Amino acid sequence: MEKPAVDVKRWSWAISAVLAAVVLTAPPLVILLGGRNFGVPGVWIQTAVAGLRKGSSDLTLRHDDRLLGGLLVDGFDEESCHSRYQSAMYRRNPGRRPSPYLIAKLRRHEALQRRCGPGTAAYSDALEQLKSGKSVASPECRYIVSLPYQGLGNRILAVASAFLYALLTDRVLLIDPSDGMDELLCEPFLGATWLLPPGFPLAGYATFSNDTAETYGNMLRNKVIGADAAADISPAQTPAFAYVYLHSDASAHDKNFFWDEDQRLLRDIQWLVMRTDNYIVPGLFLANAFRGELDLMFPEPDAVFHHLGRYLFHPTNHVWGLVTRYHNAYLAGAAQHVGIQVRVFGAQPNSPELLEQITSCTQRHKLLSEVLAAGEPMTMPPPLASRAKSKAVLVTSLKPWYHEKLKSMYWEHAAANGEVVSVHQPSHEEFQRFGVRSHDAKAWAEIYLLSLADALVTTSQSTFGYVAQGLGGLRPWVMYKPDNDTTVPDPPCGRAVSMEPCFFAAPNYNLWKKQWLDASTIVPHVQRCADFAWGGLMLVGRNE
Ligand SMILES: *[C@@H]1O[C@H](CO)[C@@H](O)[C@H](O)[C@H]1NC(C)=O
Ligand SMILES: *[C@@H]1O[C@H](CO)[C@@H](O)[C@H](O)[C@H]1NC(C)=O
Repeated sequence: MEKPAVDVKRWSWAISAVLAAVVLTAPPLVILLGGRNFGVPGVWIQTAVAGLRKGSSDLTLRHDDRLLGGLLVDGFDEESCHSRYQSAMYRRNPGRRPSPYLIAKLRRHEALQRRCGPGTAAYSDALEQLKSGKSVASPECRYIVSLPYQGLGNRILAVASAFLYALLTDRVLLIDPSDGMDELLCEPFLGATWLLPPGFPLAGYATFSNDTAETYGNMLRNKVIGADAAADISPAQTPAFAYVYLHSDASAHDKNFFWDEDQRLLRDIQWLVMRTDNYIVPGLFLANAFRGELDLMFPEPDAVFHHLGRYLFHPTNHVWGLVTRYHNAYLAGAAQHVGIQVRVFGAQPNSPELLEQITSCTQRHKLLSEVLAAGEPMTMPPPLASRAKSKAVLVTSLKPWYHEKLKSMYWEHAAANGEVVSVHQPSHEEFQRFGVRSHDAKAWAEIYLLSLADALVTTSQSTFGYVAQGLGGLRPWVMYKPDNDTTVPDPPCGRAVSMEPCFFAAPNYNLWKKQWLDASTIVPHVQRCADFAWGGLMLVGRNE
């Protein structure tokens, strides 16, 4: 009976240690946060201690690393964004450890955002410079404005991409909030905003296209810049801004962005505005100038989105309510939690072949039990089925049909191994609706719920699935698209070699060398995507 007493002592020691640390760090925090509503240290101390006390009771159930191994920084007001410090409690898979180098880089970047971001004198100066249309030699602060585009999965991948580019090039990242990202995501940088303030002076910036004269690709094509790529451009020639167009239909000139010569040309341009619907990160490994830094930041190259995503993407309180209420009501009680993401488009008919692909994939890989045919002898589960044999299946799809079929299958038939299978689907919107905010909030909640699963099955080429698997740190089973819609592929699915998303629109030409190339042959850990072999690039682990 000694043991509990010792534990209590240890916890109260830990709490006083934390309090001491808070007292020591409180003055700088106050200065740091002065004038902004990011947190009142007194309130923070109380919630931190309350959090510790609560966490101590169920440490065996969840890991309790609220800062995700140092990826996140302490000091935010918890009330303003509950998900930030609570998400660890909902994840059974603790995920990968961020490298100390990445952590240091993130802390430096947060300082950059505070020094140069909106509200600072440096920001006002940079805006004046942009309005004047003239460039300055070696500007104090440089910026990248991200215009996320298309469906929610694409937009999240685009923001992660722009952020990594900002980290590599010491640019302040600002995202355009006009598509409602601010209602879905909390602010990621302590003491600074990442939202582009209203009144950005570039006329029509939000609707620039591949035909706009100031895209990097068009300036290159028209020799506005880069006539002599070997030499640095003189400040007189440097434009005050450039658009970077890396949408799926970007031209070879646009996609030249990824080579060293191009990065040298872009380096001195103070303002970049980037539009993409792609995860361009694998392309950033192609420039020699970035590769050393990337290797230091990500000793495990198959965990880039995993770390960036867990650092950046915290659901706002409204979305977190959708996530936690659903999770607690339907999923938390089960011993195992399987996520199945079924990407179908609204106009597609319900497909018995796809349903069969789902069941044969999940059963072959023992994610779900086979079912007994009517009349086969079955072992009756004990009257109150034990939690150890229960499985909760979360289906996400625009259509309700697949969920209904799976649910009746496990109701009308017994599972061969006696397990209890419950099947759930939070919403079915029938058609993907772009820019409808309630739709986006539910879609984000569903992505997050999928990311909390113990195992994941996804349809190929789905950015929705990519975000879930990356946040969850899960290598999914991927159901490849059959060549013929009326057949069930065999095998029905395969395990992805990496949890990383695919970059669909990878470069395949180098203008400086006038050379077509296969970008998957340049860096060992950048390979072709299994689910988009033609032109797609994906980061894999060093041993793959
Ligand atoms: C812009 O895209 C359209 C449609 O894909 C294409 O027809 C046009 O040639 C593109 N323009 C440039 C400058 O690449
Ligand atoms: C798909 O396969 C079925 C059965 O083998 C065949 O009848 C049909 O013609 C095929 N369709 C296409 C588009 O190849």
